[in-house]
Amino acid sequence: MKHHKHRPPREVRIHGFDARGGGEGLDVNGTKWSIRGAPVGALIQAAGRNYDGTRLSLLEPAPDAVTPECGVFGVCGGCQWQEMPVERQREEKGRMLARLLGELGGEDHGVVSDGPAYGYRNKIELTFGTGRYLLSHELNTEIKREGRWLGFHAPGRYDRIVDTPDCALASPAINAVYARIRADVLASEFGFWDCNAHTGFFRNLILREGSSREVLAALYTAPGADEHAAWLRERAPSWGASCVGWFENPTSADAAVGDLREVLVDSGSGLSITASLGGIRFQLATTAFFQVNVPGAELLVDVVRRYLGAGGPGSVLWDLYCGAGLLGLACADRFGTVVGIELVEAAAADARANAAFNGVENVTFVAGHVEKLVGTLAPPDAVIVDPPRGGLHPDALAVVAGLAASVGTEGHPTSRVLVYVACKPTSLLRDGKLLAAAGWVCTDRVAVDLFPQTAHVEVVTRWVARAHP
Ligand SMILES: C[S@@+](CC[C@H](N)C(=O)[O-])C[C@H]1O[C@@H](n2cnc3c(N)ncnc32)[C@H](O)[C@@H]1O
Repeated sequence: MKHHKHRPPREVRIHGFDARGGGEGLDVNGTKWSIRGAPVGALIQAAGRNYDGTRLSLLEPAPDAVTPECGVFGVCGGCQWQEMPVERQREEKGRMLARLLGELGGEDHGVVSDGPAYGYRNKIELTFGTGRYLLSHELNTEIKREGRWLGFHAPGRYDRIVDTPDCALASPAINAVYARIRADVLASEFGFWDCNAHTGFFRNLILREGSSREVLAALYTAPGADEHAAWLRERAPSWGASCVGWFENPTSADAAVGDLREVLVDSGSGLSITASLGGIRFQLATTAFFQVNVPGAELLVDVVRRYLGAGGPGSVLWDLYCGAGLLGLACADRFGTVVGIELVEAAAADARANAAFNGVENVTFVAGHVEKLVGTLAPPDAVIVDPPRGGLHPDALAVVAGLAASVGTEGHPTSRVLVYVACKPTSLLRDGKLLAAAGWVCTDRVAVDLFPQTAHVEVVTRWVARAHP
């Protein structure tokens, strides 16, 4: 077997992006490379496997290079593209999608966006640890690996923390609360979690922001003693969060999970905040799924509504993979009934609660697997699918694809529309080819840049099936 890892480093000029967000280019031997975090136009020294190369150094920046706003850019792994102007990022996302998805047909409406290119995230999740991931300028300095660190996991390292005082993608309100909590926990005498020894007190921190800039803080710790409780009760009210929950995680699982021990600060409605999106108000608990970029998600909802059109009274809309019900609820005024299916029971329960909170009565949210339940539903006039990155389950795809063949037959409408929202374009390509083969016609495609500075992009496609006269 060849050991690609031991190939000598190569110089690669990046000319575009591939579907995974890697920078593409050729080395002197004409070998094609895909390199993570390599900006278009730059000359990169790369090593490793050519199809998943590692950037060793930036030999020459791109002519339009900009300075990253984040002090740990390139290390924390959350962002890949801060060295490119955001307009360039969108141009490249559009070019990559046109190349990849062109064969599906339909009019290409490019990449749209709204809101700021930094500071847009309304939720971050941080980890406490005792092993620091050293940045290149920290190697061979007096900075020690062992200590008390708070930040993000280094990619691929469960035991190393990229210590950071803020996140350039997080909203200013979140960063302000984070700064206060960070200063307090560092000044405390309590230990941070050592994921090898399973010792320490502070473990994880989730911060999420609502529409009125209020912040929910959820602090996860090892089971606490009286001294911990006394400290938390004294300090939490000064953090500037509208509600603070203290959760205890007695397990070794390295994740923000645990049982609520105490609401340290109450928002007035317990441990939840509210957020508006698509004309719907959502009550968000600590872990409820919600779009992280609200201005961008407003655009997404707007596109989905336009692409679906209006079904009218008596019509049926399926919202498959509905999460907490965002898309189905935002479109419920245009259809007779909406049926949503979502795997995670808590999310389906949130969807039902959100419907009640907004007085939307023509919706039903069912918890379960789409692939198992979709065949049992009444035939729809319109369908939304918003699956996870892997795309549609083959059994779900078979049912949705089959809806093209039944248009115009008894008990079915004479035309149907399908809106496919995809977070992984290659999954959309695979599923889209099968939809097209089954008789669906792609009419429109647009990408929404929900995650500036990263390689991620959300693609919305509109499909139509009509009965032959
Ligand atoms: C991309 S999210 C959709 C979010 C939602 N449409 C929204 O905008 O808020 C995908 C959802 O599919 C759910 N899911 C994953 N696999 C599923 C399955 N087999 N059946 C039903 N839901 C599933 C996930 O729990 C997640 O909530």
